Amino acid sequence: LNQKIEILDELCVNQIAAGEVVERPSSVVKELIENAIDAGARKIEIIIERGGESYLQVKDDGYGMSSADLELAILPHATSKIKSIEDLKHLETLGFRGEALPSIAAVSKLSIISRQATEIGGHEIRVEGGKVVSFTEIGCPQGTTVTVKDLFYNTPARRKFLRSANTEAGLISDLVSRLALANPNISFSLRRSKNQLLYSPGKGNLRDTIAAVYGAETARQMLELSVEKRDLRISGYLSSPNLVRSSRNSLTFIVNGRVVRSQLLNQALRDGYHTLIPAKTYPFAVVVLTMPASNYDVNVHPAKLEIKFNNEKNLAFELTTAIRQTLLQTHPVRSTILEQDPYITLPESTLNGPKSQGASIDSQNLSLNICTANENKIPFLVSESADPSPVKTQGLFQELRALGQLFNMYLLCTDDKNLYVIDQHAAHERLRYDELTAQLKEQGLTSQMLLFPEVLELTPHEESILLENLEELQSLGFIIENYGARAYFLRAVPTGRNLREPGSLFREFIAEVLAKSRLPSSEKLLEEWIYMVACRTALKLTLD
Ligand SMILES: Nc1ncnc2c1ncn2[C@@H]1O[C@H](COP(=O)(O)OP(=O)(O)OP(=O)(O)O)[C@@H](O)[C@H]1O
Ligand SMILES: [Mg+2]
Repeated sequence: LNQKIEILDELCVNQIAAGEVVERPSSVVKELIENAIDAGARKIEIIIERGGESYLQVKDDGYGMSSADLELAILPHATSKIKSIEDLKHLETLGFRGEALPSIAAVSKLSIISRQATEIGGHEIRVEGGKVVSFTEIGCPQGTTVTVKDLFYNTPARRKFLRSANTEAGLISDLVSRLALANPNISFSLRRSKNQLLYSPGKGNLRDTIAAVYGAETARQMLELSVEKRDLRISGYLSSPNLVRSSRNSLTFIVNGRVVRSQLLNQALRDGYHTLIPAKTYPFAVVVLTMPASNYDVNVHPAKLEIKFNNEKNLAFELTTAIRQTLLQTHPVRSTILEQDPYITLPESTLNGPKSQGASIDSQNLSLNICTANENKIPFLVSESADPSPVKTQGLFQELRALGQLFNMYLLCTDDKNLYVIDQHAAHERLRYDELTAQLKEQGLTSQMLLFPEVLELTPHEESILLENLEELQSLGFIIENYGARAYFLRAVPTGRNLREPGSLFREFIAEVLAKSRLPSSEKLLEEWIYMVACRTALKLTLD
């Protein structure tokens, strides 16, 4: 074995470094847009082909680069944004490492065309796999246009990690949406081949940008957040507790113009909503934090996606409080509508299915038995008493006598020996599930027309997931019709006629089920839909 140490050549170093910065087409788009923002652009146009792997372009009207800078820009550690590490304490730009362009150049065929306002002509530099192949004068408008072709053409192992073109395009539109939300005064346009996926007006109004991304109706319903505490300003928009999603993807945090991912902020926001929204649902929010740059460190994540706050506890507390106050001021009471007759009968199957829950107290042995089901909705029982063999599942409920109801949520039953505490919603959900499955068996796969077609305004990401699964969904009985930019009519569903708000249920379905890493089979899709319908139509009583 040759163990002699050698220093890697520059190209190899850049290709390895690129792995950190450039994970997929959306990370390239992110770096290029951030450069455009740093260059003072007012208008940023992005074009992708398929998922951006073969072709993507970002064009800005920013201040451009001189020919000398253009040659330097693609070299590692070349940046105009900081001079020393001290500058990070008061950083006003998104970039600071001088790593993005050389990393992209190392793993693609790159062209940068740029012209500064003071120059008559511009220049184009072309780089392939890290090597400059041409440098020429060229006529062009002021600003910079970066075109990236054949991403990862020389690093096939990386290319293998890419997902389908639709998924990659979805990730790009999700990213552009968030960057547009962080920069309401910049107009963003994202096109995929000839389709306009996103357009934001760039007139400086965040609610207008939210409307461009999530639809006008959603934007109209959101609550304004605006709180100031010493050097911290918290602003943005929040969903009212009635407007929730089942995926946490709809939270955007912006710190001094930078879109960041943060567990801390996610949790703080959820804490603000605590008890106001149902478990397993997520609020929907764009939170804009403004604070001195010295209050956090940006140099902690290779793709600059996360930042580290100095005083995390205090920040979380302030955010939770601001959200709580805003929600309570505008929505003091949560209404519960009783959709069904609250009397139900419980057959034997109640405990043996998805999400069944219940508890029993053995009065002689003084032990508490809790019956529940696991996350995968596979029927099973857990006993918390010392010996699980007291727990009988078969025929359990047939021998029960109802004693009454507790907190409007639980049925209290007895078999004269044990006390059973049954979660009514879970039990009813199970009943509905059985009913729907039986109905499906009897009638086969059919489309059930909705009384009124439901209008769906989808985000670019949701749309790409929908389109990717359209055929499968149609074969199950969904009838979905495109009628405008990211707008669809939902006309029929496979089961569950007379659903309330089928549109929002269908959106949840898209987010939850279809966004899974591997595409579910059609039986699985159908099962999940029935499950969601059952959950939605089951009796729901809450302690308010
Ligand atoms: N669209 C653009 N308009 C004007 N100048 C640009 C543009 N893109 C890049 N540059 C110049 O090229 C330099 C290198 O860009 P690059 O993205 O590689 O590094 P950076 O932005 O300084 O830091 P980071 O690696 O954190 O993004 C920038 O510092 C900037 O001076
Ligand atoms: Mg940069």
